[in-house]
Amino acid sequence: MSFDSPPFTVRDLSGVDTQLIRVPTQEKFIGQMVNAMKYFFSRGDSSFSDHFSSMSESNNFPFKGFVLTGPPGSGKTEAVVEAGRRLYSELAMEGIEVKLLHISTADINRGRVGEMEQRLRSVFNEAKSEVRSSLRTILLFDDIDTLLMSRDDKRSEEWSVSLNATFFHEVDRLKTSDTMICATTNKTDMLDDAVKSRLSVKEAPAPSFEEMKIVARSALPLRGANGLTQDQLLELAAERILENQEAGEPDSFRLARKSAIEVLMKEVVGWE
Ligand SMILES: Nc1ncnc2c1ncn2[C@@H]1O[C@H](COP(=O)(O)OP(=O)(O)O)[C@@H](O)[C@H]1O
Ligand SMILES: [Mg+2]
Repeated sequence: MSFDSPPFTVRDLSGVDTQLIRVPTQEKFIGQMVNAMKYFFSRGDSSFSDHFSSMSESNNFPFKGFVLTGPPGSGKTEAVVEAGRRLYSELAMEGIEVKLLHISTADINRGRVGEMEQRLRSVFNEAKSEVRSSLRTILLFDDIDTLLMSRDDKRSEEWSVSLNATFFHEVDRLKTSDTMICATTNKTDMLDDAVKSRLSVKEAPAPSFEEMKIVARSALPLRGANGLTQDQLLELAAERILENQEAGEPDSFRLARKSAIEVLMKEVVGWE
């Protein structure tokens, strides 16, 4: 089966993202994902394969991964990719290679009947086709609520029921010691029991105000600008964050960076 475009994007995990600012709220959920995936993927002492060495125990283990839930811009997508990078470098020491396939709903969505199911199946086949004892795959289903409609949802059309069925069928066949799901969603209430019984729900709260200030600082020039020091610019950026919050913008990494850039544009370029 060949497609007009691949139903996923392979993310590069080999580098370090220098743009990423470490803040405690996000570090907590990144750390939880790294530890859990390491448990399932590693071959070392006290790993999953150490604890459940017989095939019957390890096949069909009911836990298939996570779903990270939190408001838009809380850094969920970024956190999964970062967890992938950390695993990539940690497991390289054991001779294990980690691969991350990023799946957006647009990668799956197609008009023709049956094509969406085929595209979805091919994602799982890609994870399986390369099963080598040294390869592990993370499937990032981004904004999974847009892919899977809740079964209770009255708008559910037949095609979405069939797509859901394909998804759960494939997920149930995954071996957690080779492949894990990391899904993200902004809509906690759209997660139905079928998802919750397979994926563990992890909260990804928005960054705090202090954390947003740290992120804002990283978007401001070290040597200041237009006669203002970086600290002075940061004061203005903090005020700007509060103004944007009052205008109804939710706390997020995006809000922090955007507010800093708005201040910079105002001071340097004279934007109003
Ligand atoms: N730790 C971080 N440091 C700097 N920027 C970040 C960090 N985490 C996320 N971002 C940026 O904030 C924006 C929103 O993050 P994203 O992961 O897309 O949020 P979500 O998936 O929760 O909506 C993106 O542009 C992302 O690159
Ligand atoms: Mg996202």
